[in-house]
Amino acid sequence: MPLTQFSPNVARLEASATLALAARARKLKAQGVPVVDLSAGEPQYPAPAFAARAGVRAVEEGKTGYPPTLGVPELREAVARYLGETTAAGEVDPAAVIVGAGVKQALFNCCYALFGSGDEVLVPSPYWPSYPAIVNIAGADPVVVETGWAAGFLPSVAALEAARTGRTRGLLLNSPGNPTGAVIPHDLLGDILRWAERHGIWVLSDEIYRRLAYGRPSPSVFDIAERGERTVLLDGMSKAFCMPGFRIGYAVGPRDLIRKMSDLQGQTTSGAVGPSQYAAAAALGETVAREAFITDLLSRLSSLREVGLAGFSQMGSIEALPPAGALYFYGRLTDAGATSLDVAERLLVDAAVACMPGEPFGSPGHLRFNFAVEEEVLEEGLERIAGFFG
Ligand SMILES: Cc1ncc(COP(=O)(O)O)c(C=O)c1O
Repeated sequence: MPLTQFSPNVARLEASATLALAARARKLKAQGVPVVDLSAGEPQYPAPAFAARAGVRAVEEGKTGYPPTLGVPELREAVARYLGETTAAGEVDPAAVIVGAGVKQALFNCCYALFGSGDEVLVPSPYWPSYPAIVNIAGADPVVVETGWAAGFLPSVAALEAARTGRTRGLLLNSPGNPTGAVIPHDLLGDILRWAERHGIWVLSDEIYRRLAYGRPSPSVFDIAERGERTVLLDGMSKAFCMPGFRIGYAVGPRDLIRKMSDLQGQTTSGAVGPSQYAAAAALGETVAREAFITDLLSRLSSLREVGLAGFSQMGSIEALPPAGALYFYGRLTDAGATSLDVAERLLVDAAVACMPGEPFGSPGHLRFNFAVEEEVLEEGLERIAGFFG
């Protein structure tokens, strides 16, 4: 008999399949093994100095009381202006914006407010592992819709339609996607939104990597004029602004949903950390500094992407598609046999390179490598990966 009998609330909650691997990497590092860590889901660079200073200033000015549950007005207004400037939405109403402790909390609140027992939520795979986990916590059923390498990991309307039932209430979109970097083109995004609208399906669009696109910009749901009322945009500061530790994300959607998410947030976290919100307001609100920061980051990532693609093109038993966005190479193992979890473990033990296996993303047979690291780190990693795969 286990010591603790947990409640049905967490009955379907599982520990991450990669925790053991991460623990192993930490242990090796502690033993002095120089592990090249390409497993992280974040850019390994500092936050914009002008934004960090704004956060410090907020503390020094005594802005340390409880912030409003929905977020401080400065940030909600900055988000609305930023979306107005960088999408085709035109004017965005700050009242439609709620700030949370990262996209993760905003998405959780949104799913918890919208979905429950008996509902199905479509999740194209490969997916960010938190999507099915969050849908499960809400009591709804995630329904995985396979995309696949041949389709460039893009969901098709036909595949979504094939997965739709009378219980389908939602669709989680992520473009550019983690782990694949796939960018949903404007026309396809429009088709998906029109299909969802026709069937009364909520579309929750996680656009946290939107500004990190190589070549063509990544369209937002706010670029699609005919998007329906049941569309929620989610974005945050963790990737394009290198501010994951600030824990700021936001959702923009219909007023009644935003109010319900605020009620939920008011009874759980009371909202996001105040000084972080002022830092985020500066990061989004200082337009010239913001765009300069993103341009620099994008140019750095573009050249790392080239270095990585050149490296992978030389390798035998792993191949990587050029990612159209985000921070990752999603390599396909061409040798059937061992699971990608096993291969990731061997890569760590034999070549001292940490990566993420495909299993938690719903696509065994792949490995994810973060390329948003220092160039020497990436080059060393590629050399070791090439040595391992031959
Ligand atoms: C697709 C996706 N959404 C959301 C997040 C988490 O964002 P946040 O740090 O804002 O909670 C991540 C982080 O890895 C991600 O990859």
